[in-house]
Order: sequence, then structure tokens, then C-alpha cells
Amino acid sequence: MKSVAIMTSGGDAAGMNPAVKCAVEYARSRDVEPFLVYDGLRGLIDGSIKAASDVDLSGMLHRGGTLLRTARSKRFHSHEHREAATRNLEARGIEKLLVIGGDGSFQGLNQLHADFGVPFVGIPATIDNDIAGTDYCLGVDTALNVICRATDSLRDTAASMRRAFVVEVMGRNCGYLAMVSSLASGAEICLVPEIPYDLAAIDRRLQSRVEEGTRSIFAIVAEGTRYADHLTRWFNDTLNVESRMTVLGHVQRGGSPTVYDRLMAYKFAVAAIEALLDGEDNSIIVHRRGAGFSRLPVHEVVEGKKEIDPMLMELCRPLCG
Ligand code: F6P
Repeated sequence: MKSVAIMTSGGDAAGMNPAVKCAVEYARSRDVEPFLVYDGLRGLIDGSIKAASDVDLSGMLHRGGTLLRTARSKRFHSHEHREAATRNLEARGIEKLLVIGGDGSFQGLNQLHADFGVPFVGIPATIDNDIAGTDYCLGVDTALNVICRATDSLRDTAASMRRAFVVEVMGRNCGYLAMVSSLASGAEICLVPEIPYDLAAIDRRLQSRVEEGTRSIFAIVAEGTRYADHLTRWFNDTLNVESRMTVLGHVQRGGSPTVYDRLMAYKFAVAAIEALLDGEDNSIIVHRRGAGFSRLPVHEVVEGKKEIDPMLMELCRPLCG
């Protein structure tokens, strides 16, 4: 391999910038010329591609989001635009792609590979931690720290006014962020798509605490349940506790990458460049606890089902009923 283009795609996630920086530096150390694609899949179609320079990399490591920017491109679904992307790579002599992103991006690149044979390797990066085959996606630790700082602040005001707080966290259809942040913030209730919940049981569990005048009740709700609004009204109407709802929203996607995300970014990036050098042309780098980094065919990742750590599920189950 003589050249590789590095891009970020899909929802931004902390850790993307360190991954780009490391991938560029590591590629150079292996005599591979690195290019940068700006604006994700949209930039691939429009030719926003340039040879990487040190100026592009400076001051990048500690920044959240992605300095290469990203986009969710509908145009990439069309054969015509994927062909334009391929021509842009060919015109610059770029042989391979390294994409840092989520499921949707991997599917797009998989189609590009099927249509035009463009070889690529992916690094999972999304705060949702919803990608099959990997325990960790870049950005998750940073998002959890952002959520935890927010819930600590909300606890202060909740306790001061003896209120119930319902906090909706992101994750798309995955409850991972909600489960971990429920445990980390000491929430009394955790509602996620993966575990059935029972409001009557929650009512029985909390009734005595309410009668004893508990200082606050905290519920973390995954956005995928679409239940935050209902639960907030339930506190008022059924439990007779004044409640407020906070939707944390996109604040969860921002912030400087944590040390863990920076370190994982470095390791993922080295594993990805090595995979490309070994001739992998259609695979994703995954990380499993105890097993470290490995490669999985893209179809196993995009068609697979995300398995959440069973111990985490068991720890959260009592908070669902
Ligand atoms: O996939 C990351 C994520 O932040 C999800 O948690 C959320 O549902 C979605 O992206 C929001 O998408 P957008 O940034 O397009 O509003």
C-alpha cells in the first residue's frame, strides 16, 4: 500500500481527532502517504480530499468532535455518486480508505467496495456503543463522563428541591449509555430498550421512600424507549412527586476526549493501518475485553446484533422494576 485516505463519517464522536492524527503519523512511519477527506461521505463525492500536512494535525489531539468534519450523506446511496467518489480517489492515486465512524458509514463503504472494489478498513466510533462485534467504540468514555457531570449537577438541584428528575440520554436504539450512567450516577430508575420495565413494581419499590420524604429520585431513560415524557408525568400524577425532565441532547457528543478515548484512538488507528498493510480490504477493527484488537468482516458487523455485557444488564435490572 502506497497511499491511504483517512475520513470521519456519521455522528461525530470524541476520539475521532486523535485517531486521525495517529493514523496519519503511523501511515507515514510505514511509508504510506496519508490523505485527508473532509466532510465525510459528502466530501468523498465532492472531492474534498487533500494530502495530509503537519498543519492539519497540529492542535488536534485534545479537541472533541472531528476537525475533518462529518456528514450523513443521502447522495452516497446512489450508484452515480459512489462512482464519483471512486473517481476522486483514483484521480489522486489513493489506493485505500480508513473510515472512522458508525454502522451507517460502514454500510456505505461496504457498498462502495462491492460496486468499485475500493478497499477499506473501519474504526468504530459512536457514542452509542451500538456496533456489533466490538465492546468499545471511540467516544463512549467521553460521552459517559459528560453525562455523569451533568447528572451530578442535576442531583444537586433535585435534592435541594425534593424533586424527581428524568434524564433522557442518547444512544439511538441502544441502552448502553443509559445503563452505565444509571450506575455511575446512582439512579433509582433506568429505562432502556433491552430490559422490560414495570412501572407498577417501580411504584411499589419507591412508595416507602416517597412517604419517608426522600430527598430526590433520579431516573435515566434511554432515548430509544421514547418514554421520558411519560415517566415525568407519571411521577407527578401517580407518585405525587414534583418532577422535571432534562433531555441532555447533543451536549453528550461534545467535549475533549478523555485519556481513555485518546489511548484507544491510538491503538485502533495502529491496528487499522496494520490491517490495510496486511491486505484487509473490507473489515472493521474491533476490541473485545480480554481478547484485545482483531478484525471482523464488515457484513458480520453491520448485520450482527450488539451484545451488551450481561453483568451490566444484571446490575441494571433491579432499576427497571
Ligand atoms: O449516533 C449518535 C447520535 O448522537 C445518537 O445517539 C442520536 O440519536 C443521533 O446521533 C442524533 O443524530 P443527529 O446528530 O443527526 O441529530
